[in-house]
Amino acid sequence: AVGCDVLAVPTGTDGIEAIREKTFDLVITDLRLPGTDGLSVLRTAKGKESQTEVLVITAHGSVDTAVEAMKLGAFDYITKPFQMDELLLIVERVGSMIMLRRENQDLKHQLEEKFCFNGILGANSQMRAVLEKIKLVAETDSTVLIVGESGTGKELVANALHQNSARKGYPLIKVSCAALPESLLEAELFGHEKGAFTGALRQRRGRFEMANRGTLFLDEIGEISPVVQVKLLRVLQERTFERVGSNEPIETDVRLVCATQKDLRKEVAQGRFREDLFYRLNVVPIVVPPLRQRQEDIMVIAEHVLETCSLKLNKHLRGFSQQARELLLRYSYPGNVRELENMVERAVALGRDQAAVQPPDLCGFQSCPYLGGVQQESCGFCSEGLTGGKKKKDATLTALAAARESFEKDYIVSVLERVDGSRTTASRILGLSRKALWEKCKRYGIPSAHGDGGGGD
Ligand SMILES: Nc1ncnc2c1ncn2[C@@H]1O[C@H](COP(=O)(O)OP(=O)(O)OP(=O)(O)O)[C@@H](O)[C@H]1O
Ligand SMILES: [Mg+2]
Repeated sequence: AVGCDVLAVPTGTDGIEAIREKTFDLVITDLRLPGTDGLSVLRTAKGKESQTEVLVITAHGSVDTAVEAMKLGAFDYITKPFQMDELLLIVERVGSMIMLRRENQDLKHQLEEKFCFNGILGANSQMRAVLEKIKLVAETDSTVLIVGESGTGKELVANALHQNSARKGYPLIKVSCAALPESLLEAELFGHEKGAFTGALRQRRGRFEMANRGTLFLDEIGEISPVVQVKLLRVLQERTFERVGSNEPIETDVRLVCATQKDLRKEVAQGRFREDLFYRLNVVPIVVPPLRQRQEDIMVIAEHVLETCSLKLNKHLRGFSQQARELLLRYSYPGNVRELENMVERAVALGRDQAAVQPPDLCGFQSCPYLGGVQQESCGFCSEGLTGGKKKKDATLTALAAARESFEKDYIVSVLERVDGSRTTASRILGLSRKALWEKCKRYGIPSAHGDGGGGD
């Protein structure tokens, strides 16, 4: 009557067998069955990763078992004797919930696609602008200077620039300028002839040659010495260079992308960085904001990392607890996205399977202040959050939460339309109390329809 495919089985044992073989949206079971009991059927149906809902039928007066069934994850219970209509209402409620859940999952994936560009997640408007800029300048050969604190995603930006350019079929070569002393960096970048210096046993090509027709990414460009600055300036001006120990100019066709955590203008003002080189590098500046300035990205990234790490570790965590969310949103992330990533990875390792991530899973401290433990100097995460941190509280709406709300509103409106505005019927279908529905309507500004007393409770 309600458009479901139904499989009926005579005993509990048959039920368990069927559940193991096939996937069901809903299992309806009595608690007392021939074969095995209803609780075993329930346990099987709610096993690992299952999205199956269970409706339990109980005898009049067996409240204890009904409570136990609810604890084991039953969707609802119904007491014998019951009217067929009652049963159908619950089935319809399960149907609506499953639909909502699926739509919610789809929505989440759509959002992720929408907010993801070459592995860079960004829902925040500043990040959206950064991503738009990447798309625009990737196709050009302009030199790009990426500026941002540690862990903000500068390397991801460099990758995206290369991947979206016509040079993507050629190499993207990366050099960390801070990792090498001056003389070695010079040889690394420009190559050297055999015998150019002690230890130069054979001729070697430099990174500029390797990156020919591709992209050269110079990380921590603020660290290069005056000598290397001069050489770099020359390549940028003349598009030629010489290997160390040679006078023969080599031509190069390289797109240069540099990154720095430093304020290069300040370095210029203090005489540590050549002004002419700065202007050559700063043709297109891309500033990646710190994570604390892009609250909307926190949960988007956290949920993404939770999902990928869970898959890797084959663990099934049920999202973040309310408190974990609040702390995540309040924390200031001196290590930016890298710190958030590490934190969530740790939570997946420490968190209990099938449970929501709790604050101590994130900070990793047994005696974290959240658990009432001794305040640990180094557990900045929970203590910062608990003392109010940036005093942002839960007022911040993540992009995902905003999308969910907009979806919820549309869904309530569509259910109300289907039942001709009857809030009593709608609340039953939605599985909400009339009061809860009334509050949601008020919050979303959904007007009350005819009949049904206008929706006031
Ligand atoms: N917007 C983002 N979405 C998803 N992951 C991100 C984002 N930004 C950074 N990450 C991840 O955070 C980590 C740090 O990023 P990345 O190495 O690009 O930062 P960085 O700015 O180069 O840091 P550093 O200055 O310390 O070198 C990486 O694992 C990266 O994948
Ligand atoms: Mg980096």
